[in-house]
Amino acid sequence: MTKLIRGGTVVNHDHSQRVDVLVRDGAIVAIGDNLEAPAGAEIIDAGGCYVMPGGIDPHTHLELTFMGTVTADDFEWGTKAALSGGTTMVVDMCIPSPGQSLLAAYQDWRRKAEGAAGDYGFHMAISWWDKQVFDEMETCVKTYGINTFKHFMAYKGALMVNDDQMYNSFQRCAALGAMPIIHAENGDVVWHLQQHYLAAGVTGPEGHAYSRPPLVEGEATNRAIMIADMAGCPVYIVHTSCREAHDAIARARAAGQRVYGEPLIQFLVLDEDEYRHKDWEHAARRVMSPPFRSKDHQASLWAGLQSGSLQVVATDHCAFTSEQKRLGRNDFTKIPNGTGGLEDRLPMLWTAGVNTGRLTKEEFVAVTSANIARILNVFPKKGAVAVGSDADLVIWDPTASKTISAKKQISRIDYNVFEGYRCTGLPRATLLRGAITWLDGDLRAEAGAGQYVPRDPFPAVHVANATWRELTAPQPVARAEVTP
Ligand code: URP
Ligand code: ZN
Ligand code: ZN
Repeated sequence: MTKLIRGGTVVNHDHSQRVDVLVRDGAIVAIGDNLEAPAGAEIIDAGGCYVMPGGIDPHTHLELTFMGTVTADDFEWGTKAALSGGTTMVVDMCIPSPGQSLLAAYQDWRRKAEGAAGDYGFHMAISWWDKQVFDEMETCVKTYGINTFKHFMAYKGALMVNDDQMYNSFQRCAALGAMPIIHAENGDVVWHLQQHYLAAGVTGPEGHAYSRPPLVEGEATNRAIMIADMAGCPVYIVHTSCREAHDAIARARAAGQRVYGEPLIQFLVLDEDEYRHKDWEHAARRVMSPPFRSKDHQASLWAGLQSGSLQVVATDHCAFTSEQKRLGRNDFTKIPNGTGGLEDRLPMLWTAGVNTGRLTKEEFVAVTSANIARILNVFPKKGAVAVGSDADLVIWDPTASKTISAKKQISRIDYNVFEGYRCTGLPRATLLRGAITWLDGDLRAEAGAGQYVPRDPFPAVHVANATWRELTAPQPVARAEVTP
C-alpha cells in the first residue's frame, strides 16, 4: 500500500515545508521536493492544504461506567468521531472500580477497545491502594506499556484518593519511570459545597458550577504538584480550567519542576453562562468537572498555550445522551458529569486559535499532537510527519467551513455543546497508518482497525525531578553532648 501525498505543506511542531510525503506499509518512507511516484502508488492531491501529524487526544472516556450509567460513545464510535475530525489516536482512562485488580481492568479495557477504528492507549487509574496495587503497577508499566497513572482528587465516595494514597502512588511512579496524571479538585470541599447549595434549594445545573469554584481546583492542583515534587516524579494535570490551576502549573515549571497542564477545547470556547441557560437540558448537557469558567479564566488558558506554560488541548470526551443527563433532573449532583468534543477539537481550535492569530499553525500541531506524543513517550512514532513515523496524517484544508450540528455528527449523542459554531479549517482527509479513514466528508474508518500503542517508561533522568530533595538531602548534624 503506497501513497504519495503531493503538493501540500507539511506542518510539524517546529517547522513547515512545502514537500511531498511518501507512505508505504503504514509508515512515512520519504519526504522531499517533487518525489517520484513509485509504480502503482495512489496519488493524493494536497494542493492548498497542510499535511500535519494526526491529532492525539490524551483524555477520553469511551464506554465508561460512571455515575450510574455508561458513556454513549464506545471505542468504535468514539474513534470514528475522532478520525472524522483529524484525531488518529486517543488515550483512554482505564478505571478499575475500587478494589478491582488493575490487571483485570486492563483486560476489560482491551476487550472494550477491540472495535476501535483509531489507535489507542490507556492511562491506568489508581482508585484504591494496597500491596496488590503497588505490585500490579509494575506489570502495567513493564508488560502493558502504560506509563501514566490517573488519580482523582474528586468524586468523594467513588474514585477519590487521599494524600496518603497519592504520595504512595507517586513514589511508586517515580520508581517505575511512570508519571501520575491528576483530576485536581478538592473532593471534600466540593462535597460540602454540594450539600450547602442543595440545602439552600439550588438543585439545577448552576449548582454544579457554584459547588466547584476555581479555588477547589487551584488548591488541589497546587497540592498534587507539591506532592509530586516531594515524591520525585513529574506530574500531568488534566482538564485545567482556571487561572488558579494554571498559575500553580506555571509557578512550578518556573521553579524547574516537570509539570504539564491540559486545557480542554470546551474550556477555551464555552463559559459559565451556559449553566444559567433557561433550558434545563441545555445547561445539564454542559455539566462536567471542572465546570466551564468565566472569560477571565479562558484568557488565562489561552495565554498558557501561547506562552508554553500549558502544553496540550484535549477533550475529556465523556459523552452522555440527554436522557442520561436527566438522571439529575431534581438534583445537580446526580447529573452524569461529562461532555463530548472528539470530532470538534481540531476544527474548533483552528478556528478559535489559528484563525484569530492566537496560535501559529506549528503551535497548533504542538498542542494537538506533538507535545502529548513527547510527554507520553511515543514521539516520533506518533506526533510527527517524519521519515519512520507512523503515517497518521491529517490533510487540512484551511479554507473549508462547516457549521457544527448534532444532526451531522458521528458521535452517538443527540446534541453537541458547540452546536451552531461556524468552523473554518477542516480535515479533507485523515490517514491512519496510511489507510484513508476520512475523505471529503466520507467516513471510511473500519471498526477494529485501531491498534493498541504501548509506551515505554520514562528514563530515570526524566523523573529525577525533586526541587525539594536538594533541600533535604539527608545530612546528619553533629551535635555537642548535652549534660543536664
Ligand atoms: O466531567 C468529567 N470530566 N467527566 C469525566 C470524568 C472526569 O472527571 O474526567
Ligand atoms: Zn476528571
Ligand atoms: Zn476525564
